[in-house]
Amino acid sequence: MITFFLAGNDTTAIILCWMWYLLALHPDVEAKLHKELDTVLHGRTATVDDLANLPYTEKIMTETLRLYPPIYATMRIAEDTHQLGEYIIPAGAALFVSTYLTHHNPKYFPNPEKFDPDRWTPEFKAQLPKFAYYPFGGGTRICIGEPFAWLEGILVLATIAQRWKLRLAPGQVVDIRPLVTLNPKGSMPMRLERREGLPETKLNN
Ligand code: HEM
Repeated sequence: MITFFLAGNDTTAIILCWMWYLLALHPDVEAKLHKELDTVLHGRTATVDDLANLPYTEKIMTETLRLYPPIYATMRIAEDTHQLGEYIIPAGAALFVSTYLTHHNPKYFPNPEKFDPDRWTPEFKAQLPKFAYYPFGGGTRICIGEPFAWLEGILVLATIAQRWKLRLAPGQVVDIRPLVTLNPKGSMPMRLERREGLPETKLNN
């Protein structure tokens, strides 16, 4: 239970934080998100049944997990001695595998520093090698909470973005601070702005 609380809380909070940050910097992406939310939800509360109809919202989370993977490195212990390219990995050695670097590799992600949710087409996904994108790890110790994290991230983003825009506080300079998870350095104060021109709502939230 302790692992569940630790592994499930900070990670999801951090990815939401980076999503708001990226949306604040990319009003074009935010506008497309609002369009999808207004068209699909018409102002009502998003539920699990809506997930399949929110593909652009999902792409925003997918792309944010690429640029800012909350668990930016995973660790494994080599069971046997193994040659990896020019390196000999002795049995018992600890290996750190950087999710962050892989996710920023231009070999897999053209223009890797660009926040581009539209890159996640079915064709693009299909041609990616297996471990080019692995924000939830892989193998037998893959994140046990992955399906829940998608559900939570997409629904929270949809619910808040339906009504609010988040804007960086004036003068805010944001940088990463890799601790156990990939935090923003310091904090990330943001200002809430109520969205104008919402569709007629059923006022159920
Ligand atoms: C965006 C959210 C999340 C991210 C990015 C994330 C990422 C990860 C990663 C990279 C691992 C290590 C996998 C490996 O070593 O290969 C992991 C493990 C784990 N995660 Fe998540 N996680 C998230 C959300 C959650 C949630 C919501 C829960 C629970 C409700 C959860 C529970 C766990 C647990 C229990 C482990 C340890 C699994 C094991 O060692 O067998 N995670 N997570």
